[in-house]
Amino acid sequence: MKTIRNPEELQRQCMQWEREGHRIGLVPTMGYFHEGHLSLMDACRGQCDKLVVSLFVNPTQFGPGEDLDSYPRDEARDARLAHEHGTDVLFCPEPGGMYHEDHGTWIEVPEMARGLCGASRPIHFRGVCTVVNKLFMLARPAVAVFGQKDWQQLAIIRRMVRDLHIPVQIVGHPIVREADGLALSSRNVYLTDEERAVAPNIHKTLAEAADLVASGERDAGAVKRFITDRLAETVPMGRIDYAELVDPDNLAPLERISGPALAAVAMFMSKARLIDNYLIGV
Ligand code: PAJ
Repeated sequence: MKTIRNPEELQRQCMQWEREGHRIGLVPTMGYFHEGHLSLMDACRGQCDKLVVSLFVNPTQFGPGEDLDSYPRDEARDARLAHEHGTDVLFCPEPGGMYHEDHGTWIEVPEMARGLCGASRPIHFRGVCTVVNKLFMLARPAVAVFGQKDWQQLAIIRRMVRDLHIPVQIVGHPIVREADGLALSSRNVYLTDEERAVAPNIHKTLAEAADLVASGERDAGAVKRFITDRLAETVPMGRIDYAELVDPDNLAPLERISGPALAAVAMFMSKARLIDNYLIGV
């Protein structure tokens, strides 16, 4: 495995692979790998013959007061794990290599970035779309894998790729969870013992909401009330950022559940903000 820090060098390498007829796969990450990241690498490895993993804590997707400076990092461990999971190139650029001081070009999908996480993180998805588009330009992947853990991110990237005719196949990968149901996240290290103990109740509550729909409930408002009441009971130290039922493709809020619905939740804990979601099929 080669580590590349210079964006132009990555682009040269990938253009050469392209000329040689290779199929390039890309897994974008911010590092501090857990089994979720590694499962994306394994899935991508099976669909390409050159695997590029990017490790870049992208400053433009963090708002003022968010955890950019304290975001957990361990490049040496990440490099070892990426190597063990078949990565050909680990791309670790410096912020200054990715953004000129007078960077002025942004990609936005405002309609889909307004709700859910976008409501409390107004510039987040603009930063994500812009950096992911840069990574597509540099790595020139035929396939790129993203986790369903960040469902809104995945849906927005699919829309960006469709709208801009970007020649890449986007693959969504299922959420990897701890044995007790908590969705893996680099930010779980921020949880106190007490918070960690009840955090699995987020997934449990969403699964119960799916049962409620399966037993005939069609009023999205009633399902949302069930989720917020349950979370208030079972994760008492958390503060709910949102609990929503939305259309899984365009993320529009639902009033009636008449087809597939995504139940999505974000909760502020003392230091962490946890997100999770559950696809409810009718
Ligand atoms: P990061 O949070 O590091 O996540 C990298 C990828 O791992 C994302 O596609 C995310 O959805 C996926 N992922 C995280 N936890 C997961 C889990 N428990 N199960 C399955 N997949 C999981 O998402 C980002 O970085 C950034 O926004 C990025 C796309 C790299 C742009 O900067």
